[in-house]
This record gives sequence, structure tokens and C-alpha cells, in this order.
Amino acid sequence: MMFEAKVYAERRERLISAMSGGLVLILGNPEAPYNYPANTYHFRQDSSFLYFFGLDQPDLAGVIDLDDHTDWLFGDDVDIDDIIWMGPQPSMSERAALVGVKQTAPLAKLPDILRQAIQKGRRIHYLPPYRGETYMQLENLLGIKVAGIPSNASGELIQAVVGLRSVKDDYEIAEIEKAVDIAYEMHTTAMKMARPGIIEREIAGIIEGISLSRGGPVSFPIILSIHGETLHNHYHGNILQPGRLMVTDAGAETTLHYASDITRTVPVGGKFSDRQRDIYEIVLKANMDTIAATKPGITNLSLHMMAARIIASGLKDVGLMKGDTDEAVAQGAHALFFPHGLGHMLGLDVHDMEGLGENHVGYDNEVTRSKQFGTAFLRLGRKHHPGFIFTIEPGIYFIPALIDKWKGEDKFTDFINYEMVEKYRDFGGIRIEDDILVTQNGHKVLGRPIPKKANEIELLMQEI
Ligand code: GLY
Ligand code: MN
Ligand code: MN
Repeated sequence: MMFEAKVYAERRERLISAMSGGLVLILGNPEAPYNYPANTYHFRQDSSFLYFFGLDQPDLAGVIDLDDHTDWLFGDDVDIDDIIWMGPQPSMSERAALVGVKQTAPLAKLPDILRQAIQKGRRIHYLPPYRGETYMQLENLLGIKVAGIPSNASGELIQAVVGLRSVKDDYEIAEIEKAVDIAYEMHTTAMKMARPGIIEREIAGIIEGISLSRGGPVSFPIILSIHGETLHNHYHGNILQPGRLMVTDAGAETTLHYASDITRTVPVGGKFSDRQRDIYEIVLKANMDTIAATKPGITNLSLHMMAARIIASGLKDVGLMKGDTDEAVAQGAHALFFPHGLGHMLGLDVHDMEGLGENHVGYDNEVTRSKQFGTAFLRLGRKHHPGFIFTIEPGIYFIPALIDKWKGEDKFTDFINYEMVEKYRDFGGIRIEDDILVTQNGHKVLGRPIPKKANEIELLMQEI
């Protein structure tokens, strides 16, 4: 599955316009062994390769000549042995035509082309790799030692790719909406299954199956736990107990590999206690007010700080925080409860383009990363533009180890009511995450709305 050929041809044209000169080398991914060489993980193509060259098979490489405006696909035609195991396959030239590339050559020719260019003193631009196999491939192709591969990656290419991939076109927006619609099925199913006595993996397995049956694999390993205070909890062995909250952070990939990333938090058994509801409403307000404030020109850092203030002020109303809210947030006291960022870009990667460098994707000359615990973990700080798609995912967590550490250090005793916090040690955590498109004048929450108001969730959980 892929977009029309002209979509990829136009993207390559735009890349050429955005860069000065030389060759761009975009390596597709190879297969990755799981427990022995021929038993591989589910194949996942590199996202930048998908963006510019669309093809979803292993062992391909794309080259764009920035000076004579030509592009090449390198890859091998299958032989009869491959056909016996894999079935008939299109030829390389047929594949290349699907993405508007005219010139193809066997993979064995790639080193020659690159060597010739290097000999002429031409720059080979490549992106930072993230797999061992690709490091070795780049060492062999370019003669750069593995240790030097990241620092020799092209800053100019990174900036150009981030510039293009940050602004989603209509085809991409439609794909991400599909991915959220799959997440709707996953999350409403998880809500209905969240009954006392069931084991987390029974729910996690079913919703992973929904993703597979409707599009592709999940867009990241499912986080589903009654210990939502552990932010990325992949352990699915707990039995659901009455009185606990279940956090489900899960998304799907479409057949074209666009991602969704949604979090919902529900009370086991379907009824929020008063204490749970009070904290839930604070997180929901942080989620909804920051969504409502989203528009071009506003920085994501300011949305993050807005969420932090809503959380601090809500916790003050409950009695868990105290003192001046703005001062508490300025000093970072809220991060005991909200120790992560408000969100990140979303696209072909669930943390879109994170492999190209978080600071290149999320920050610029105007907005630089905070050094303060909590806000420092914000992946996207810069100004929003129409076409950006990103997540809004505030949370409140009671993390016993962090509470003990800060209390032991007498940290922020002017702002944190540790005596009351102690009573919440067994509370768990709450996160509410949606996927947002920045439009010309404002924003759009993507996909079919997934229940998130406390009463909507309770109503849905009654339907079994
Ligand atoms: N799914 C991980 C996150 O929300 O960033
Ligand atoms: Mn998530
Ligand atoms: Mn997320």
C-alpha cells in the first residue's frame, strides 16, 4: 500500500529545493533477526525512506542527486529461490515506477556510485542511523568508522527532512485519522474489559489484535497497567483489582505506517471514586484547555506550562500542593506529579522523527530546551504551524520512589503538602492523551472522539 507516485516525486523535488548540493543517501531497513538469523522481527521500513521512496520491502536504498536532480533506487530483483519462499514479486523497475523513480540498479552497484562521488569531492548526506546493521552498512559504504557515523550525519539533510515531515499533507492527515479510528476500537474495547479479576495481558493482547486486524502492528509496545504511575509500564501481569485505575497508552499503525498515540485512564469496574474523580478532572482540564488553546503561532512550551499551572492549581484545590501556583510552577514543584512533557510530534513514527534528534525536531533558535526536571523532558517546545500533528498528554502520577526522594531532601516544602501526598502513595497515575492537528486558524482533534469525560467513560463501561 502506498500513495500515488507523484506524492513521492514531489517530496523528493521539495527536498532538492531545500538543499544546496551533493548526494542524499536514504537507506531502507534490512530485516532484523529475532532469535536466529532467519527468524526475523516483523519488518518495519525506515520512516524517512517511506516518506521519500514509499517502498515497504527490506534491503533497498534511495539516492537523490541534488545537482542533476535525478534519483535512483538500489535493490535486487528476486531469483527463483526467493519466489519459491516468498511468491512472485514485482521487479525493481516496476517497484521504482510506483514511486516515480526511473533509474534502478542492483544493490551491489551502490558502493561504486558513492565511491565515485566521494572521489570527486562531492558531499554524501545521510541521516543518523539507529540500527546496528545500518551503522555497519554506512561504514562499508562511506569508509567512516562506526563511532564517527552519528557526528558525520548531515545537519543540512536533518533540517530539510524535519522541515518537510513536520508539515503533514492531506493524505497524511487522512492516514493518521484512520490510525486514531483504530485506536478508538482499541480503547473502547479495553474500557469494557477493565473488570476486576482480569489479567492486564488479556486486555493488552486483544487490543493489539485489533490493531493488527485493522491496519498494522501497534505503533509502540502497549502500555497498559494498574500501575500507571510507572510512565512506560510494559509489564502486563497484574490482576485488575477493584479501586485501581487502569492506564492504557496504545496506538495503531495504518497499512501505510502512519501512527496514532492515545491514552485513556479508567476505574477498574467502571465507577470512579470521589478521590479518583477529583484528580481525573484536573488532568482532563489540562488536556482540554491546552487543546482549546492550540493554534498556529503558540509555542508548545507555553501549552506545556499552561498544563503545569492547571495541574498545580488543581492539586492546590485538593490540598496536595500549596503556596503560590505560578511560583510553584516556575520552580518546578509540579513535576513531582507531572514529571514528563505535554507531548511530541506524531506521524510515520509515534515520536515523529525522534531518531533525527529530538532538539532538531522539537526546538529551534527561538525556543530552547529547559534544563529543569520535568520540563526538560518536553520533546516539542517550538512554535506551532498549520499541518503539525502532535500529542497532548498531561498526567498526574504518585510515584512512591520520587515522593520518598523529594521528601527526604525536603524539596519544595513550601509548595508540596507531603503529609497529604503520603495518603496517595497507592493511587497510581492518570494520563489522558489525544492526537491534534494544527489548522490554519486553530486545531482539530483527530479521529472519532474516544470517551474521556468521567461520565462518558462510566456510561461506556456499563455496556458489556
Ligand atoms: N506512547 C508513548 C507516549 O505517549 O509518548
Ligand atoms: Mn502515548
Ligand atoms: Mn505520546
